Amino acid sequence: MKIDVLTLFPNMFSEFIGESIIKRAIESGKVQVQIHNIRDYSKDPHNKVDDYGFGGGAGMVLMPQPIFDAVEALKSKDSKVILMTPQGIKYNQKKAYELSFEKHLIIICGHYEGFDERIRSLADIEISIGDFVLTGGEIPAMVVCDSVIRLLDGVIEKESHINDSFNDNLLDYPVYTHPSNFRGMKVPDVLLSGHHANIEKWRKEQRELRTKERRPDLLEKR
Ligand SMILES: C[S@@+](CC[C@H](N)C(=O)[O-])C[C@H]1O[C@@H](n2cnc3c(N)ncnc32)[C@H](O)[C@@H]1O
Repeated sequence: MKIDVLTLFPNMFSEFIGESIIKRAIESGKVQVQIHNIRDYSKDPHNKVDDYGFGGGAGMVLMPQPIFDAVEALKSKDSKVILMTPQGIKYNQKKAYELSFEKHLIIICGHYEGFDERIRSLADIEISIGDFVLTGGEIPAMVVCDSVIRLLDGVIEKESHINDSFNDNLLDYPVYTHPSNFRGMKVPDVLLSGHHANIEKWRKEQRELRTKERRPDLLEKR
């Protein structure tokens, strides 16, 4: 998979792509991530990328020209263009799975008051990471990239994400590590028993119990 991110603040992505699982996924060629500065595509003599909104109102608005030019330069027949916006469809694990089957994602990050409305016409999909407003689309873009990249073949063990929360509309089961008794809080006996069938049964029950307690809305979708 290839991911191109369009942003006014490329430095925000340095740590994200330079650490941990995402770094390893890039280094092993499972994914190619390119961060593009929208300003590099500006045709304005001063590389201007934003302006006041027509009709007044607070905050600067991203202009269409640099973003149209950037998308047109990067786009191919396999591309899916994603616009990060609090007005988009609400992101979830199902959408992450769907996106993980795409060959090429182009992700546009808004900033300031937002982007010129005409930029929406570039998008195949508009995504919100939740009902709150952030200063820019960079963190939402990282959320999408991270959740998608970890699902790509070979990035993490398949078993790790098969039981993750939200698969089958269930939350994940509880996990424990050493010591088996910490300040009187004991690891359930079944996990120490070495009896794999019983462990599997316990985990399945725990997934259902947890979901019932914490997210009964998910059970309704099953
Ligand atoms: C301050 S926000 C603009 C919000 C805009 N005025 C509105 O209310 O729809 C600036 C940018 O941050 C990004 N952003 C903020 N919250 C987001 C969210 N919940 N999901 C996805 N992107 C978000 C978008 O790219 C947005 O254009």
